[in-house]
Amino acid sequence: MKFSILTLFPELIETYTNASIIGRAVKSGVISVEAVNIRDFSADSHHKVDDSPFGGGSGMVMTCQPVESAFESLGALKEPARVLLTTPTGRRFDHAMAVELSQCQQIVMLCGHYEGFDDRIKTLIPRIEEVSIGDYVLTGGELPALCMLDSITRLLPGAVQKFSSVEADSFYDGMLDYPHYTRPAEYKGLKVPDVLLSGNHAAIAQWRKQQSLDKTRTNRPDLLEP
Ligand code: ADE
Repeated sequence: MKFSILTLFPELIETYTNASIIGRAVKSGVISVEAVNIRDFSADSHHKVDDSPFGGGSGMVMTCQPVESAFESLGALKEPARVLLTTPTGRRFDHAMAVELSQCQQIVMLCGHYEGFDDRIKTLIPRIEEVSIGDYVLTGGELPALCMLDSITRLLPGAVQKFSSVEADSFYDGMLDYPHYTRPAEYKGLKVPDVLLSGNHAAIAQWRKQQSLDKTRTNRPDLLEP
């Protein structure tokens, strides 16, 4: 899968996507990432990419021209493709959307900054979908883009060594993950639950299922609502 990320800070994208599990997914060809600097496409002699809002108010708004030109520089997209614009006013991103997006050949992400984009960008690039990663506001769209890239990449065959660990994770079956323990079996008097040392796989599976349910009931009861 190809990720094309249009941003004013390509170095933020490059640093993250060159490290750890995502870095390995890039090296092994599971994904490719191109970070496109929107500023490089500004027709303004000072490479300006923003201006003050019509109607007044604080903050700056990203102008249409550099974003549209940066998008056009991508050429024909590898279909099926999706074009996402990161904004706190977008549709909420979640596990189901990550699964949906993992079927794409290419995902383009437009990272907003300041007060976001001139709204006409949605008419100029009609396939844009506005997406939010949660009900809070960040200073820019790079972290949301990287959150989405990371969670989509984990779902792709070959990205994570054991896909069974992805399937056991939170949200895969609609519930939160159960607690995990490793060696030593006792640390500072704190013991690992006996059942995990019992070797009884059926009992372990039953315990984990119950723990998942209890944790979901406590931390995210909304996930259990019909
Ligand atoms: N940009 C700023 N805050 C954001 C959020 N919560 N989700 C997506 N993009 C954003």
